[in-house]
Amino acid sequence: MKMFITGGAGFIGSNFIFYMRKTHPDYDLVCLDKLTYAGNLETLAPVMNDPKFRFVRIDIAERKAVYDLFEAEKPDVVVNFAAESHVDRSIENPAVFLETNVMGTQVLLDACRIFGVSRFHQVSTDEVYGDLPLDRPDLFFTEQTPIHTSSPYSASKASADLLCNAYFRTYGLPITISRCSNNYGPYQFPEKLIPLMIANCTADKPLPVYGQGLNVRDWLYVEDHCSAIDLILQGGKEGLVYNIGGHNEMRNIDIVKLIVHALGKSEELITYVTDRKGHDMRYAIDPTFIHNELGWLPETKFENGIVKTIQWYLDNRPWWENIINGEYKTYYERMYGNR
Ligand code: NAD
Ligand code: TYD
Repeated sequence: MKMFITGGAGFIGSNFIFYMRKTHPDYDLVCLDKLTYAGNLETLAPVMNDPKFRFVRIDIAERKAVYDLFEAEKPDVVVNFAAESHVDRSIENPAVFLETNVMGTQVLLDACRIFGVSRFHQVSTDEVYGDLPLDRPDLFFTEQTPIHTSSPYSASKASADLLCNAYFRTYGLPITISRCSNNYGPYQFPEKLIPLMIANCTADKPLPVYGQGLNVRDWLYVEDHCSAIDLILQGGKEGLVYNIGGHNEMRNIDIVKLIVHALGKSEELITYVTDRKGHDMRYAIDPTFIHNELGWLPETKFENGIVKTIQWYLDNRPWWENIINGEYKTYYERMYGNR
């Protein structure tokens, strides 16, 4: 079994590589990654010398390079994590989201169609469903919820999902799609809520909470996302969408306060800043289908996962300090300077 894992130098892709290394040591894994600002080769250091792992620096939107690699390597399965993934950046500059998330996915789908694979799995997001109102806690996203996107990021991910469905229906390409809720855990880029708050808190810097902090996200430990994708690859039905989430809804402000208290800091660090444009209120996944069909259940409870995550960031300061002291500084200033 040879598996192409795109975006494997990012947060979830790298965790997936480590997960597959552990659970399927016989697989040949090839990571395809452009190494954008969000890709980090240091993350993959533990597998770089593994004879059953190979890293290839490549842009998934570069058709010729992608075709050449497919021809040379002949993958059995492709799992597509590669994406521009941050909503705030998509509000600032949508174009690159279309280039990678839409056109890049289309190039991969064509490559799979031309060279043949037994599965193309698209790693998508619950954000394609839009948001739910705060006053309707009885509502959840199911696989039947219509697509209703808010940000350029979610619109680009939804477009990619539609292309996957089109390639299934039109060409019979064996695709599956998963739509997961917000992930947290080791190696998450410090622009995202949880690592950003941990990093700022340890440095006694202001903690920028958008709006009133009442928006709700449904948090899942990254390894539970990886185990769900593995199950879909093994037993998932072609052409289907699987929602992934662990019924762990939290308000942003409660997450931030939890981090403040865990690090022994003062709530005075919390600073309410101008809200995100088009800010989705609530995400909440109904994971009944994947549970009934594939027996998937999350293993890590939030109260344990968040402690492990905070500890990981404390134990791996050079990993994220290198990032926040580099090009990221300019982004942070631009995004938060006058907010
Ligand atoms: P990330 O930003 O941490 O990593 C993305 C990776 O893709 C980086 O290594 C980057 O270098 C690479 N990449 C970007 N453009 C590329 C291109 N053109 N060619 C090749 N590689 C490229 O993102 P993440 O949080 O790990 O998300 C991975 C996937 O999971 C994305 O598709 C995202 O939409 C999806 N997802 C994320 C979450 C979440 O909470 N983070 C939740 C649900 C779904
Ligand atoms: P984020 O981690 O960017 O994920 P997503 O937008 O994909 O859900 O943000 C999670 C929530 O935290 C979202 O409601 C926006 C909010 N947020 C802040 O309040 N402050 C911040 O500095 C960031 C990055 C996010």
